[in-house]
Amino acid sequence: MSDSTPKPDPTSDDVPASVKRLRAMRAEAREGGGEARVARQHDSGKLTARERLDLLLDENSFHELGAFVTHRATDFGMEKNKFLGDGVITGYGTINGRLVYVYSQDFTVLGGSLGRAHADKIVALLDMAMKNGAPVIGLNDSGGARIQEGVVSLGGYADIFLRNVMASGVVPQLSAIMGPCAGGAVYSPAITDFVVMVKDSSYMFVTGPDVVKTVTHEDVTFEELGGAMVHNRKSGVAHFAAGSEGEAIAVLRQLLSYLPQNNLEDAPYEEPQDDPLRTAPELNTIVPENPNQPYDMTIVIRKVVDDGQFLEVHHHYAQNLLVGFARLNGRVVGIVAQQPKVLAGVLDNDASRKGARFVRFCDCFNIPLVTFEDVPGFMPGLNQEHGGIIRNGAKLLYAYAEATVPKITLITRKAYGGAYDVMSSKHIRGDINYAWPSAEIAVMGPEGAVNIIFRRELAEADDPVQRKAELVEEYRERFANPYVAAAWGYVDDVIEPHETRQRLISALEMLQNKRDDNPPKKHGNIPL
Ligand code: HXC
Repeated sequence: MSDSTPKPDPTSDDVPASVKRLRAMRAEAREGGGEARVARQHDSGKLTARERLDLLLDENSFHELGAFVTHRATDFGMEKNKFLGDGVITGYGTINGRLVYVYSQDFTVLGGSLGRAHADKIVALLDMAMKNGAPVIGLNDSGGARIQEGVVSLGGYADIFLRNVMASGVVPQLSAIMGPCAGGAVYSPAITDFVVMVKDSSYMFVTGPDVVKTVTHEDVTFEELGGAMVHNRKSGVAHFAAGSEGEAIAVLRQLLSYLPQNNLEDAPYEEPQDDPLRTAPELNTIVPENPNQPYDMTIVIRKVVDDGQFLEVHHHYAQNLLVGFARLNGRVVGIVAQQPKVLAGVLDNDASRKGARFVRFCDCFNIPLVTFEDVPGFMPGLNQEHGGIIRNGAKLLYAYAEATVPKITLITRKAYGGAYDVMSSKHIRGDINYAWPSAEIAVMGPEGAVNIIFRRELAEADDPVQRKAELVEEYRERFANPYVAAAWGYVDDVIEPHETRQRLISALEMLQNKRDDNPPKKHGNIPL
């Protein structure tokens, strides 16, 4: 029997005054800083804080918390300048059905600046994310500490920084920068795991161009000081540069699909469509005969991983090293690879820092590491030495050595010098090291080695050029191959390039239940 009683319309205006009041307040909260400021936001090519959340989260999944919070400040006429929500929207929702905590700063309310109440909302969100073990995504659009609230806003930032640090390595923390972010508004994202910036509309700086002019007398634009490409290419503060806010949000969603909810879980498995036994005959000839000729390592990666899908992280920074996420037979892996196309894949200061941070991220979150190695060594020279290549190279070495996740290395061509040790060699607990037949594993390349060990002989030779060519050939024959390393057991097997995918998948599956630990300690002392 069907129920013929008319159902009340939940959106009807015929409701008690108390519900009307609630609705009015909710509508007010949704207005943010008011029509004029919202129009200004749109005119500058930016979405509002709520529009961004609509794009980020699964439809109808958002639940707002603290929509009616207001500040309690009274200085500078602030008691008359209140907005429901206090310039930040906080709550939880889902992305592809998985729980996330989100905050979205509203630039239309006091420039998204952070006062006590605003800070408390973010603090509460971070505490909740920690307790419940789910990622936090911050959409940042803020002028930094709210000037009218003085030290109270500085305290608010510090409370957030502390939580960012405590949450680091416990739940993934993702930041998008979606406007001019200054001061504290950049330090919190800097502590998080990944930063996405939007080209032409997002900026990060400790202090804006006006203060720079006063202090250092430099005339700089927003773009020069802290635009998306400055932080993606030069400082390395940002990991992704998006062409629009929509694209930035798509990057966040995609990135999350590779990450576990927290450090006690595994990254999400995806039923593979790609055959684990698929071979890639093209790889047999990808390494050029001439060892000085480059090739594109992204081709190698894409031929090996599931469906050719590789989400590159830090694409614009230190392009001689590639890092990013992919799947092998449905399981997420973190990939670290030299790019022989750029600076011959050498390890320099920036590449070492980039690699170290990525390796540590993967280790925090149980993501196995697959390393594709073709490295002529560490970059020599004044510039690099003065820039701290010793300390920075040591970071990468430290990060790999300390990592306890499954670690598989494939040496495609060069593995010279200290770089051989660093790139997840077996000596620093690499689980499996494979080499292609084209691998060259030695202390240094043939030319350099011959110049040093045969210096006297060459100086005395009747025909030094001819003699050097012979010695180089001899050295190449003896050392520039994988078999000396294989004879010592430093390389587990020499594999044919076309079978790389199946060999890596099989090794990864073999290592699935790997257990390894570091000795008990408060924490190590990575050479920062
Ligand atoms: C209070 C602020 C504010 C702030 C902006 N506003 N920043 N209100 N505190 N920090 C307000 C403005 O008064 C204005 O209000 C509205 O936000 C929009 O600002 P505009 O200047 O009109 O916008 P725009 O030209 O786009 O410039 C944005 C900006 C600039 C680059 C962010 O506002 C700026 O330089 N703000 C100050 C940045 C800063 O130095 N912050 C403190 C950093 S120190 P109305 O009412 O007109 O809409 C810090 C300490 C923590 O954060 C350090 C931790 C390590």
